[in-house]
Amino acid sequence: MLYPLIKQALFQLDPERAHELTFQQLKRITGTPLEWLVRQSVPTKTVNCMGIAFKNPLGLAAGLDKDGDCIDALGAMGFGFIEVGTVTPRAQPGNEKPRLFRLVKAGGLINRMGFNNHGVDNLVENVKKSHFGGVLGINIGKNKDTPVEQGKDDYLTCMEKVYPYAGYIAVNISSPNTPGLRTLQFGEALDDLLLAIKNKQATLQAYHHKYVPVAVKIAPDMTEAELIQVADSLVRHNIDGVIATNTSTGRELVQGMDHCGQTGGLSGRPLQLRSTDVIRQLSAELQGKLPIIGVGGIDSLIAAREKLAAGASLIQIYSGFIFHGPRLIKDIVSDI
Ligand SMILES: Cc1cc2nc3c(=O)[nH]c(=O)nc-3n(C[C@H](O)[C@H](O)[C@H](O)COP(=O)(O)O)c2cc1C
Repeated sequence: MLYPLIKQALFQLDPERAHELTFQQLKRITGTPLEWLVRQSVPTKTVNCMGIAFKNPLGLAAGLDKDGDCIDALGAMGFGFIEVGTVTPRAQPGNEKPRLFRLVKAGGLINRMGFNNHGVDNLVENVKKSHFGGVLGINIGKNKDTPVEQGKDDYLTCMEKVYPYAGYIAVNISSPNTPGLRTLQFGEALDDLLLAIKNKQATLQAYHHKYVPVAVKIAPDMTEAELIQVADSLVRHNIDGVIATNTSTGRELVQGMDHCGQTGGLSGRPLQLRSTDVIRQLSAELQGKLPIIGVGGIDSLIAAREKLAAGASLIQIYSGFIFHGPRLIKDIVSDI
């Protein structure tokens, strides 16, 4: 594969510029015969989860293809599932640049993108054009200028629009880069949101004659007691799955490294152990009542296996994909 060479060039550039350039190229080939340029064959390793058959357990985590611009090209690389988004009801620019930083020595990234996206209607149009044969997750959030007390309405708006086109819907209440968002993970705010989401799901199921599972994505920065409360709430509301974890505000393992002082969420290898711990604790608490999608620092087959051993049914990558390229998909899926 060419990726080591391409990476050498891309890593000379500002990280967001590198992302834009790569996506420009992927967008040009997505849905065209030129997809063979990025296509690789991986073995089928079917996993049934949330009532859906996944052709393999490895997915692309949310945030890389926020607008669903490159679904087919990414799918050609062998992912069993792709999670697009986070998408919000209205387009928004996200935070000021620079907002994405590489911690090369640590194999990590810090980002404070702030849900830059072109809005849910644009994403739906892209999804309609795609032909990906795997499962498509659509990750939804709230606009920055929607007060957090009204955040629920943004989730419901997005749910209604994406429901007919999603394999599953991921509810993102754990980004550290939208002020107040993480408060939705706790207590009454969480119960209130989950109740509304389940009611909406029932209405949409009746209308569309299909059941689309809903998974909730949580942060790694919770105490064990908080995690237990969240798990209890997810079970009480019959949520279909939990995605653990989003990026971390913690910096313990990257002290003294370039960019470690940047505000935002830390991902990649420095997140690996923490996210695995969260999965292990969740798994003990949930006792199989709902499945866990494990994400955080997976950068090798071993790291992927650790997530599964901790209790994840499916796994996702983001930072590892940036550092290792499409080869990582093949390495993991071939031997998982
Ligand atoms: C640049 C960047 C943008 C992200 N954007 C989103 C997002 O929009 N929604 C979301 O749920 N997670 C987002 N994430 C979090 C990832 O989906 C993932 O949960 C996290 O990075 C941990 O996985 P990793 O260590 O494999 O990167 C983002 C991560 C990065 C690095």
